[in-house]
Amino acid sequence: MKIERTDYNGNLRKEDAGREVALCGWAAKVRKLGGIEFIDLRDSTGIVQLTVNDPDSIPDVRNEYVLHVKGKVGLKKDPNPSLPTGEVEVIVSSIEVFNKAETTPFIIADKTDALEDTRLQYRYLDIRRPYILNKLKARAKIVKDFHEYFDEKGFLEVDTPALNVSSPEGAKEYLVPSRVHHGSFYALPQSPQLWKQLLMIGGVERYYQVAKCFRDEDLRADRQPEFTQLDEEVSFLNQDEILALNEGFLAKIFKDLVGYDVPLPLRRIPYWEAMDTYGSDKPDTRYGLELRDLKELLKDVPFKGFEGQEYIKGIVIPGQGKETSRKALDELNLEARKFNLKGLLSLKVESGELAGSFAKFLTPEQKKALIASLGLKEDDLLLFASSSYRRDIDFGLGALRTLFAKKLNLIKPGTYDLLWVVDFPMFDPVEGEPGKYVAEHHPFTRPRDEDLPLLDTKPEEVLAYAYDIVINGYEAGGGTLRIYDHDTQWKIFKILGLSDQEVAKKFGWFIDAFRYGAPPHGGIAFGLDRLAMVLTGTDNIRDVEAFPKNLQATDPLSHAPQPVTDEQLEAVGLSEKNK
Ligand code: AMO
Repeated sequence: MKIERTDYNGNLRKEDAGREVALCGWAAKVRKLGGIEFIDLRDSTGIVQLTVNDPDSIPDVRNEYVLHVKGKVGLKKDPNPSLPTGEVEVIVSSIEVFNKAETTPFIIADKTDALEDTRLQYRYLDIRRPYILNKLKARAKIVKDFHEYFDEKGFLEVDTPALNVSSPEGAKEYLVPSRVHHGSFYALPQSPQLWKQLLMIGGVERYYQVAKCFRDEDLRADRQPEFTQLDEEVSFLNQDEILALNEGFLAKIFKDLVGYDVPLPLRRIPYWEAMDTYGSDKPDTRYGLELRDLKELLKDVPFKGFEGQEYIKGIVIPGQGKETSRKALDELNLEARKFNLKGLLSLKVESGELAGSFAKFLTPEQKKALIASLGLKEDDLLLFASSSYRRDIDFGLGALRTLFAKKLNLIKPGTYDLLWVVDFPMFDPVEGEPGKYVAEHHPFTRPRDEDLPLLDTKPEEVLAYAYDIVINGYEAGGGTLRIYDHDTQWKIFKILGLSDQEVAKKFGWFIDAFRYGAPPHGGIAFGLDRLAMVLTGTDNIRDVEAFPKNLQATDPLSHAPQPVTDEQLEAVGLSEKNK
């Protein structure tokens, strides 16, 4: 069989009129009208319309048949403005069928009502839909820009191991049993974090990598068990320089992919300001609904629930007083509970007065003060709560803020909001366990110089050189400057509650390297999948990966994960027989 191809279908334009062409592709749509057969021929670049004036001269063609077509480009009488090739048609002289196709489980078209699991089961058909293929193209363009930009800045691409030693935050790790060392396991990388730091100690100075990462965590619309980071690390740069370097990359991909000129430098919001104002460490600032501090206004109200609570905060939802029923309030309460926020309270403005069951606790002066200082208007709804934990109340109200933004359509599609959240706390206190902390980013993050003395006295107040890039409310990337001296690193591990032996056992191999001249260094990792989501306008991470897992972390196509045979288990020392 001889394959001739002069053009890709999506590239044909009116300038090609009169040319003889040879094309390949799939029959996307076949229809007969008044003795003429029209076939939409799809390939990886798009669709062109074929016109067959003598249908008896060609073989039977049905949807998804793979065709080899010869013909002449002509101008259409009625151009189709919704197709890039809409001004032309190809008048067919011959069609050869390369392959037939059975009726597909769903119609291959951008608009589909097929269930997602069905699409994932037949993902190779799903990818034929321009909706998915165009997203894969956009994703590839981001990667190409990443290479171009950082290569030009003198970065060296280094790939790091996938079979690693397990690390203490191990709960999220995927483990791989060793055949050679029964009872021992490798761990797949959650990120190349330690390796890229060792590359800095190795004198690489500027590293980058498109890195596959694996995290066994509960999945969400923006999370996959395996995902890709655009990972970087640099030596001898300060935080401002790292942010500026990466802003240049962001500007490039936004310009190239959606033609948007990102206004630089990007806004930087300190972590606690983001939390206090938007109830999130990844705020979408395209709309208001900001959190309000009610402590001063409500601290003297004789309400039992406020006793001993350090924080009383709320959120005003304009014009939603009547709209929000008792049942809706119950649902909001359930949402707030997911964030440990017990007892969501509400007030609404009715005929200029505050109404709702909480109103009975308020004096007329307190009511007036609330209306005046919050600027409440007729039919406004005030939702509020109290807590002793700052993060709980902020995150809880922040979740309500996001919910109402969606409900009230406050976000204009096709608009972009990029900002840095900076000055993250170094540690997150463990609720109910005074003196216990977990690392807010990771334990290799460098505390701010001015906060170093607080490590010994008030670790919870130590802020770090840590920065997240937030785009449209997504955490699209995050990084930190790293600790580069052995003693500070050791101290951080101690605050995190690791014993000398544990540090030596788990991290000895890593922190020993810091004894031999570690340069000041820092870096960042972008979530490629999330960048692709934002830049292609989808809320579903599975749309931007070729073969994603579903929300149950399984692959409906290959059926991974699957049990393995006893022989396989025995080989890696995990069968009953090995015991
Ligand atoms: P972090 O854990 O913040 O940092 O990850 C960096 C970015 O990776 C993306 N991401 C994910 N994307 C999809 N699915 C997931 N399950 C998932 N988890 C994370 C996010 C996130 O911002 N080593 C550090 C980076 C550094 O400090 O340089 C790290 O991994 O977009």
